[in-house]
Amino acid sequence: MFRSKIAGIGHYVPERVVTNDELAAFMETSDEWIQERTGIQERRYGKKHEETTTTMAAHATRIACERAGIAPEDIDFIIFATLSPDYYFPGCGVLLQRELGITHKEAAALDIRNQCSGFLYGLSVADQFVRTGMYKNVLVVGSEMHSMGLDFSTRGRNVTVIFGDGAGAAVIQPTENPEQGILTTKLHSDGTYAEKLAFINPGSHGGYHAKKAGDDTDFGYPSPDTYGEIFMTQHMMDNGQQYPNMEGQFVFKMAVQKFPEVIKEALDAVGLQTTDIDMLIPHQANLRISQFVQKTLRLSDDKVWNNIQKYGNTTAASVPIALCEAWEAGKIKSGDLVCLAAFGAGFTWGAALVRW
Ligand code: UT7
Repeated sequence: MFRSKIAGIGHYVPERVVTNDELAAFMETSDEWIQERTGIQERRYGKKHEETTTTMAAHATRIACERAGIAPEDIDFIIFATLSPDYYFPGCGVLLQRELGITHKEAAALDIRNQCSGFLYGLSVADQFVRTGMYKNVLVVGSEMHSMGLDFSTRGRNVTVIFGDGAGAAVIQPTENPEQGILTTKLHSDGTYAEKLAFINPGSHGGYHAKKAGDDTDFGYPSPDTYGEIFMTQHMMDNGQQYPNMEGQFVFKMAVQKFPEVIKEALDAVGLQTTDIDMLIPHQANLRISQFVQKTLRLSDDKVWNNIQKYGNTTAASVPIALCEAWEAGKIKSGDLVCLAAFGAGFTWGAALVRW
C-alpha cells in the first residue's frame, strides 16, 4: 500500500479587485463594518461570461500539474469541489476534463457538493484511491464563481460582503517515502442545521423540509398535482430565495467549536500534538474565526496562514488557495507538518495532516 502526497499545487484568482467601498455603493455597508467583523479588505470577481468556475479551475490545475511534473492529460481522476457550478448538471468535473483536453479512456470525474469543506473531502477521497493503487494522478480542485449568484442589495449584505471568486488545485500522487505524504484525514457532517447556511431554491423539495420543521409559510410551491413546473416562484424571488442565506452568528459559534475539535482528532489519530504543527491552513471563513482557532490551539502567528483579507471567503477554493500561497511564500518546507481544516454549510467539516 502506498501513501499519497501532494505533488503539485496551483491557484488562480481573477484580476478584478473589488473593495469594500465598492460594495458600499450597492448596499448599506461600510469598509469599517466589513473589516471589523470579518477582516476582509477586498475580494476578486471573475470576468462575467468569460471566466467561469471551470475556467478558473483550469488555470489553477495547469499550474499544479506543471509543479507535479505531469501534463493535464496525465490526470486519471478529477475531483471537483464547488457550490457555484457552471451548470446545475452536469457537474464541473467533466467540463474541466473537456477544458483541459483529457481524452484518454481511463479518465473519470467526480463532483463534490460539500461547500467549504469540499476540498478536504476531495483530498480524503483522493487519498483513499491513491493508497489502494487505483489511480496515480488524482486532481483535487476547489473553484468558486460566487459573484454570479449573490444578492447585491442590502438584504443580502451579511452574505455578499464575505464571498469572493477563485480556484485552487492539487495533484495527488503515490509516494513510497515513509517520511512524506497525507498522514490522515478526518471528515464529519451533521445535517441537523442544514438550512442555517443554505441556498435552497430552486430545488425539488417543494417545501417539504420547512413543513417538517413546523414552518407553514406559504412560498407558493407548485401544487402537488402538477408536473414539470419550475421550482422557483415569484414569491420566492421576492423573498430573495434565489440567493444563499446564512444565520451568521450560529454558524460562527459552530465553526469555532468544530475547527479545534477536528484538528485535535486528526493529531490524536497519528500521535502528534498541536505543538508539532508547522503550518495551519484554516478555511478562510472569517478572520475572527481563524484567530479564535489559533488562540485555542496556542499557535504563534507564523504558524497560521490567512489571506481572507485579500480574497474574502472562496468556499471550496479557500484551503487550496491559502495552501498554495503559503508554499509559494516559502512558509512550507520539506518535512513540515501542515494541517488543513475546514468547516461550512451542511454542516460538514474536516481536517487533514500532511507531512510535506
Ligand atoms: O464559510 C462557511 C462558514 N461561514 C462562516 O463561518 C461565517 C460565520 N459567520 C460570520 O462570519 C459572521 O456571523 C458574519 C460576518 C456573517 C456577520 O457578523 P456578525 O458579527 O455575526 O453580525 P450579525 O449577523 O450578528 O449582525 C450584526 C448587525 C445586524 O444589524 P442589527 O440587527 O444589529 O441592527 C446586521 O443587520 O450587523 C448588520 N449587518 C451588516 N451591517 C453592515 C450584517 N451584515 C452587514 C454588513 N454591513 N455587510
